[in-house]
Amino acid sequence: MQWQWLQPGSSCTVRAYAKINLTLDVLGRRGDGYHALATVMQTIDLYDTLSLTLREDGLVHLVCTQPELSTETNLALRAAMLLRAHTGERRGVLIELQKRIPSAAGLGGGSSDAAAALLALTRLWQLRLTATELMELAASLGSDVPFFLYGGLALCEGRGELVTPLPPCWPAELRWLVLLKPAISVATAGVFGALTAHDYSDGSHTQAVCAALQAQRMPALSHLHNGLERGVLERYAEVAVGRAALLEAGAPFVRLSGSGPTLFTALADLEEAHRLWLRLQEQGYEVYLTQVVYPSAESLTLASVAAH
Ligand code: C5P
Repeated sequence: MQWQWLQPGSSCTVRAYAKINLTLDVLGRRGDGYHALATVMQTIDLYDTLSLTLREDGLVHLVCTQPELSTETNLALRAAMLLRAHTGERRGVLIELQKRIPSAAGLGGGSSDAAAALLALTRLWQLRLTATELMELAASLGSDVPFFLYGGLALCEGRGELVTPLPPCWPAELRWLVLLKPAISVATAGVFGALTAHDYSDGSHTQAVCAALQAQRMPALSHLHNGLERGVLERYAEVAVGRAALLEAGAPFVRLSGSGPTLFTALADLEEAHRLWLRLQEQGYEVYLTQVVYPSAESLTLASVAAH
């Protein structure tokens, strides 16, 4: 995530990017109630902004542009509390969160905010934490949070928390992304809870996608799979309607991101992607035209923050 100091040592601003799942295999249900996954995730240029200001009075406080998200369940606030409990840090922080990523949308917004808070606070409070400690703290906040400590393109396994970063090899054929967010929120736990054995796969979609990306080839569209999609399309009519609208407007394919409800398609050509975006916007859909994003040299990442 990109970041900058406002006043060195006392405040900083970071971007927390959203993600999409290029492919997602649900391998089966585990004994602990979670599902074993193999998925390829990529950060995209749609982001929340967190401004963090050190507080010497020890208070930890969050204000959000969407007041309904300024609660104690907010993952960025929970990340700050967790970091303090783990390290014994006594100073506080004011987190000002400017939300742009739709929440409960399958785009990892809350998880990305939490990862951004962990990295920025490690800097702001000058904590000495190893990469392993940060990854463990992230995983305890949510299955997607460790991915956002890296950003870019990655294979995620386990319940999602085992992250293998991949080289930046997003295919040119998928350069421009059009996202459609149906006007509903979806609870991840409910989507996983409604899975049946028919939704499970053996991980071969994810393997094929990783192999294609690493050979710098476009993966076969049949391998852009999401094991959560069938159930979400069946349970939420708004998602099925959004999918039909994307296809009708000319999308070459449509996939659900994560547990949804956001749908995406991808095109090589910006003008074509823009036409698609415009058609859907004119029909009143919440749509985004964006592209993938990778951490830059100035980004705050696990590697730049962790103690060695
Ligand atoms: O890890 P996170 O808190 O984001 O997960 C939310 C819920 O989604 C979990 O409580 C669980 O019900 C479900 N889940 C799952 N398998 C995963 C990830 C999440 O069943 N790999």
